[in-house]
Amino acid sequence: MFSPEVYRARRAVLSASFSEGLLLFVGNGESPMNYADNCYPFRQDSTFLYYFGLDQPDLAALVDVDRGQTTLFGREPTIDDVVWMGDLPSLAHRAEAAGVEDTRPPAALEDLLHEARRKGRPVHFLPPYRAETRLLLGRLLGLSPDEVTQQASEGLIQAVVAQRSIKAPEEVEEIERAVALSVKMHEAAIRMARPGLREAEVAAEVQRLAWAAGGRTAFPVIATIHGETLHNHYHGNVLSEGDLFLLDAGAETSRGYAGDLTTTFPVAPRFTERQKLIYEVVLAAYRMAVATLAPGVPNREVHFAACRAIFEGMKDLGIMKGDTEEALAAGAHALVMPHGIGHMLGLDVHDMENLGENYVGYAGEPRSTQFGLKSLRLARPLQPGFVVTVEPGVYFIPQLIDLWQAEGRHLEYINYPELTKWRDFGGVRNEEDYLITPEGARRLGPPKPQTVAEIEALRGA
Ligand code: GLY
Ligand code: MN
Ligand code: MN
Repeated sequence: MFSPEVYRARRAVLSASFSEGLLLFVGNGESPMNYADNCYPFRQDSTFLYYFGLDQPDLAALVDVDRGQTTLFGREPTIDDVVWMGDLPSLAHRAEAAGVEDTRPPAALEDLLHEARRKGRPVHFLPPYRAETRLLLGRLLGLSPDEVTQQASEGLIQAVVAQRSIKAPEEVEEIERAVALSVKMHEAAIRMARPGLREAEVAAEVQRLAWAAGGRTAFPVIATIHGETLHNHYHGNVLSEGDLFLLDAGAETSRGYAGDLTTTFPVAPRFTERQKLIYEVVLAAYRMAVATLAPGVPNREVHFAACRAIFEGMKDLGIMKGDTEEALAAGAHALVMPHGIGHMLGLDVHDMENLGENYVGYAGEPRSTQFGLKSLRLARPLQPGFVVTVEPGVYFIPQLIDLWQAEGRHLEYINYPELTKWRDFGGVRNEEDYLITPEGARRLGPPKPQTVAEIEALRGA
């Protein structure tokens, strides 16, 4: 945890956005995998972590804006808890660590909210993403599960997004710690890959490093020789000499902050000339995107800077053709780059995505429905304090190529006979994490092997 003052100050900033009412925060509970006592690893709700820092299940909190008071609700540990789980801090002790002055048992929350509703006081809460939380909120507020989602407070969502979007120095430090560990995970994977190894063995080593450092992985590891499948979580393939390996993995620190990096490297000691061609296009796109990062620049422009470089690169290879700006507007490039340039990063790997991607990345701006551009999670102007990923890629997805070719889509921009030659190439992505500064942007963490030479140097002889 950070110091109690950090949490007190964060809540004070939030409360200042409201003139009256109650702000209700529900922490996560344990989540059973296959029976009640066999749970997924506990993960606290990120907004609860942000305002309270308490990483234990079954807590809730209420900020009374009118009275300027915060109350923490939870159960005192019983002797049974201690027998099974060891010494646990009292509720008062947890409250003190979070800078909260008042504690009550869980039942008191229901009474307080009942009283507030009777008096017509506004109760602001965030949209739940877990069924258990939706049911709990429904019970606490006398709402059906559907009503809970509909009545989540837009004002609270917007205030939390505004605050969490700007990372404080202590948060940037945590993210850099996560990125530094993520770099070690990627270097280990680059070093160990060789023909005959299974993808699962690389995935296991990457996860081992995250756990051994006292954290965990921030999202399910993507460790695959089929990088063209964007969120590929299958780890059953055996690596072969001619394969490209794509690793998308990031550590999460014990305080809950994420890193998110992608590296693509050959299973052989060296890239083939053909692999280099695509790799260099991706790297050029990555550099164009990074050069565009600055306060005030809409991230949509960063996205298009990368897409422009990719389209130009594809033109140089004879895969695409025609007027670049027209092709970009039509979305032809999305055949090989069907996702967005990046997203915010923080306590969640896709930061605050549970609060609504459009609140986080669009702030009221319209969102495109065009294939490719619709997957851009962050489009609005960048601000100092934003932490974002930059992650362009080039992917040859056989089913997508077949579909577009069958439909005759974008014939003026795509040279299908030439594209067919790359059908089984796979996918390449490079992803790194940036802080937007008043002057521009700064890459977070130590450098990750990025160029062909840097990667090959780690691959050994
Ligand atoms: N790791 C998922 C992503 O890069 O967005
Ligand atoms: Mn990412
Ligand atoms: Mn990633």
